[in-house]
Amino acid sequence: MKKQILCIGAGYVGGPTMAVIADRCPDYVVTVVDINEQRIAAWNSDQLPIYEPGLDEIVFRCRGKNLFYSTDIPNGIRNADIIFVSVNTPTKTFGAGEGHAANLQFVEKTARSILEYSQSDKIIVEKSTLPVRTAQTIQRILHSNNKGLKFQVVSNPEFLAEGTAISDLNNPDRVLIGGMETEEGRQAVEEIISIYANWVPREKIITTNLWSSELTKLVSNAMLAQRISSVNSISALCEKTEANVNEVAEAAGLDSRIGPKFLRASLGFGGSCFKKDILNLVYLCRYYNLPEVADYWESVVKINDYQATRFVRNILQAMFNTVADKRIAILGFAFKANTGDTRESPAISVCKQLLEEHAALAIYDPKAMENAKLDLANEKGNIEFCSSAEEAVRGAHGIVIATEWQEFTQLDYEALFRTMQKPAFIFDGRNILPHKKLFEIGFDVYSIGQKPLTHFQGIVV
Ligand code: UDX
Ligand code: ADP
Repeated sequence: MKKQILCIGAGYVGGPTMAVIADRCPDYVVTVVDINEQRIAAWNSDQLPIYEPGLDEIVFRCRGKNLFYSTDIPNGIRNADIIFVSVNTPTKTFGAGEGHAANLQFVEKTARSILEYSQSDKIIVEKSTLPVRTAQTIQRILHSNNKGLKFQVVSNPEFLAEGTAISDLNNPDRVLIGGMETEEGRQAVEEIISIYANWVPREKIITTNLWSSELTKLVSNAMLAQRISSVNSISALCEKTEANVNEVAEAAGLDSRIGPKFLRASLGFGGSCFKKDILNLVYLCRYYNLPEVADYWESVVKINDYQATRFVRNILQAMFNTVADKRIAILGFAFKANTGDTRESPAISVCKQLLEEHAALAIYDPKAMENAKLDLANEKGNIEFCSSAEEAVRGAHGIVIATEWQEFTQLDYEALFRTMQKPAFIFDGRNILPHKKLFEIGFDVYSIGQKPLTHFQGIVV
C-alpha cells in the first residue's frame, strides 16, 4: 500500500468522497472517522446513513478491503500520512458574527486532535468549505507543538452536488488544490495531485495558492446561487407581465456567454451550502470593510427568502385568502431530488408559513420523511406524515410540489383529482408538471413565473 489516508467527518461530503477515492485508488488505505458513533455504525451496516445514487455499490465493493469506518480517531490520526478534514462548518448562531460567520469550532477541535495524537509529519487537507485564510489558523494550531513535527495544510474544496455526488466525483469539471508557495507546500500539493491523477485527467487538476483555493469554493457556490436568485427574481416579473420564465430562461441561456444551467426557476434554493457560504462571504466582506460587496451578495439570499414567501402568498391568494383547516398535500420535502437531505430546504419555510396560516399539512417525500419529522418536530399545528403521494393528496384542497422528484411527474393526476376537494389546486414550485394537461383534468394550476391556469374567470393572482 502506498499511503494511509484518513478522513475526519463521515458526512455528506466525507462519506461519498472517500468511497470514490478508495474505489479509484486501490493502493491507498482509506479510513473514515467520526465522533458520531451511530453514523459510523451505519456506514458499517447495510443501511448507509445517507442516500446517494450509486454510493451503496461502491461502499459495499470497497469496505473491508481498503475502505474502513471507525470511531477510533486517535489511532486513525497516528497511522495517517494524509488527513482530509471534512467536518461541519455551520453558520454561527451566537456571539460575534452570529447568523453570518462560519462556526469553526469543529475545525479547530479537529486541528487540536491532530496535534495531540500525531507522531509523524502529515499533510492536512481542507475539504470542508472554510472562510478564506482558515488554513492560517489551522497551521498556527498545528505548529504550536514542541514535538518537532511538520504539517503542511492544503486546500482541496469539494464541488460535488448531492444527488449526483458519485458521478460528480468520478467526472469532476475540475479538481482544485491550493497550497503554500514553498518547496514543502509544492510537495504536499503533488501528493494530493497523485491521488486524483488515478482517475482525473491531469489538465482538469488545477493548482492555485492556498487563499485562492479557499475563496474559490465560496465564490463558486455564491455564483451558482446568484443565477437561481436572478431567474427567480425575474419569475416575479413574469407573473405580473404574462411572460413565461421558462421561455425567458431558455432563450437567454442560449447565449453561450450566459449558458443554460442553473436557470431553473423554483420556490427557492436550499441545501447545506448555498446560504451558509454566501452569508460567510458577506461576513468576510464586512470584516474587510467592503460593505457594498457584502450587500451585493447578501441580496442573493434575500431574494431567495422572498421567493418562498411570495410562493406562499400566491397560495393564499389563490385559495380565497385562507388556508385555515384546509388540507394541503406537500409533495417533496428534500431540498432537491435524489437526496434525503432537507438542510435549508425551501419546503421547511413553506410548511412553517402554511402552519402559521393554520393549514393542515399532509407531507410525503420518497426519501426525506425522517428528516422532515425532525425539521418540524417543534411546530404546532396539524401535520400528517404520509407514506405515499396518494395518501397525502386524498381529501386535500391543494397540492404543493416542493421537490422535483421524478415520481411526481408520473402520478395519475386524473385519479388524484377525483379524491380531492373541489376546486382542486396545484402549486408547482418546481415547474415540472404538464400544466395544460392538469388544467384540462380540472385543476387550477399555479406555477413559478407563468400565468396561472384557472377555471375562474376574472381572478388574477
Ligand atoms: C451545491 C453546489 O452545486 C456544489 O458544487 C457544492 O459542492 C455544494 O453546493 P447542492 O447544494 O448539493 O450543491 O445542490 P445543487 O444542485 O447545487 O442545488 C442547490 C439548490 O438549488 C437546490 O435546492 C436546487 O433545487 C436549487 N436549484 C438548482 C434551483 O432552484 N434551480 C436550478 O436551476 C438549480
Ligand atoms: P457535510 O455536509 O459538510 O459533509 P455533515 O454534517 O454531513 O457535513 O458531516 C460532518 C461530520 O463531521 C458529522 O458526521 C460530524 O459528526 C463530524 N464531526 C464534527 N466534528 C468532528 C470532530 N471533531 N471529529 C470527528 N468528526 C467530527
